Amino acid sequence: MSTATATATSAFPGPTTPRPLQAMRFFRDPFGYFQQMQAEYGDMFRVSIADEKPWIVLSDPDHIKQVFTGSPAVYHAGKANSVLLPLLGDHSVLLLDGAQHLRQRKLLLPAFHGERMASYGDVMREAAEREVAKWRVGEELRLAPRLQDVTLEVIMRAVFGMRDGAEMDELSRRLVKLLDQVMRPRTFVALGLLGPRRFRELAYVKKQLAPADESLFAEFARRRQATDLAERDDILSLLMQATDEDGNPMTDVELRDELMTLLVAGHETTATSLSWTIERLIRHPDVLQKLRDDLEAGSDAYLDAVIKEVLRLRPVLPVVVRDVQEDVEIGGRAIPKGSRIACSITLMHRNPEIYPDPEAFRPERFLDTQPGTYTWIPFGGGIRRCLGASFALFEMKQVLPAIIEQLELAPVDPSDERIARRLITLTPGSRAHVRVVSRRSASRTEPVTVTA
Ligand code: HEM
Repeated sequence: MSTATATATSAFPGPTTPRPLQAMRFFRDPFGYFQQMQAEYGDMFRVSIADEKPWIVLSDPDHIKQVFTGSPAVYHAGKANSVLLPLLGDHSVLLLDGAQHLRQRKLLLPAFHGERMASYGDVMREAAEREVAKWRVGEELRLAPRLQDVTLEVIMRAVFGMRDGAEMDELSRRLVKLLDQVMRPRTFVALGLLGPRRFRELAYVKKQLAPADESLFAEFARRRQATDLAERDDILSLLMQATDEDGNPMTDVELRDELMTLLVAGHETTATSLSWTIERLIRHPDVLQKLRDDLEAGSDAYLDAVIKEVLRLRPVLPVVVRDVQEDVEIGGRAIPKGSRIACSITLMHRNPEIYPDPEAFRPERFLDTQPGTYTWIPFGGGIRRCLGASFALFEMKQVLPAIIEQLELAPVDPSDERIARRLITLTPGSRAHVRVVSRRSASRTEPVTVTA
């Protein structure tokens, strides 16, 4: 960041507390810290959290709309995600900007269209049913890791197109091991010290990445030989057949980077949202009862509203970030080229003017009302909006009935679980700790028709 940008950014109101203290407060209390800053400094303030540059935090719907509808040439997201580069690689849609981002996004988009989702329904429901069948009455469980197993299986089958067998088991094992290594705090320390590019060149990093990459490249080779490639509807098979405007298919390295991106972007996020939904439902028996009644009547309308309300009240990510590539003016204030903007999902979702009584868990808010494009933003927005949003919502609609219709669950500790931080996600502090009270007798024999 140039000195001129730094000076202009520091002109924004914000705390003077040293950066490590600000970071600590944000990590401990991602909702409360920004609420306090907003109360002190208004709708646009500056904080220093990450090591690169200060964030100018936005929370006004008009300001955020301006960013989401602004030119992608001006508002870059790729650079702000560069911490993921060693794992995701240079071709990841999350890390690119401009024309390159658009090319990758266009290649991926058809695989995520709403109508495609229906073909993944069985895979999603069966993965959930298999997992739930393992839970024993009387047992105490932390749901987040269990649901992560479910979302991983869904990605393996629906995205990677793996079928039962030694190859799927081995690829899952290697990917889980890699993600486990990445999650270790010392990885983040080394990454912070060296920066993503130098970090990726380290021999031990290459050694950690190699086994999963080897399995993926072997799978690509097998898939290219598959006689039924054209009939397969998993996302990898679709991507292998996709071509860009010039008729070029994706290279193996591009395929590897995008699959890794879909795994990292889609696996823990969806499992976390599922965990929060159960955490909320078992503390609100009236809502749970309404949901069961509605499902029993063959409708998924209340389920849809429950999921939207959970994503409002417990968004998985606190902010989405953009780097501005030229001087811009937002809300009458000049924001200089090179600044980093953080659109606050948490502040937007607790704005009492948009959501009266914002702390209350009230799915009825979304029963007959579509959420606002710029006021309900758990999936970000604009040209960078989450590619997997329909996939995630559809998966949640498949998995949740498999749990709540089968089992009576109770919280191990009846107080609300704390909103805790797990690297970048906001997760239930006790990982959705539940006791299995009893098995319910099935009242519905046909699965509810879930709309994508
Ligand atoms: C509840 C689950 C999920 C949540 C809360 C979530 C949230 C987000 C958010 C906030 C962004 C950044 C948007 C922005 O910068 O404006 C994002 C991007 C992305 N997500 Fe998701 N996500 C979820 C599930 C998924 C799934 C299941 C997949 C794929 C299988 C996925 C794939 C992606 C991709 C590829 C991007 C990058 C889009 C781009 O840069 O153009 N996500 N997600």
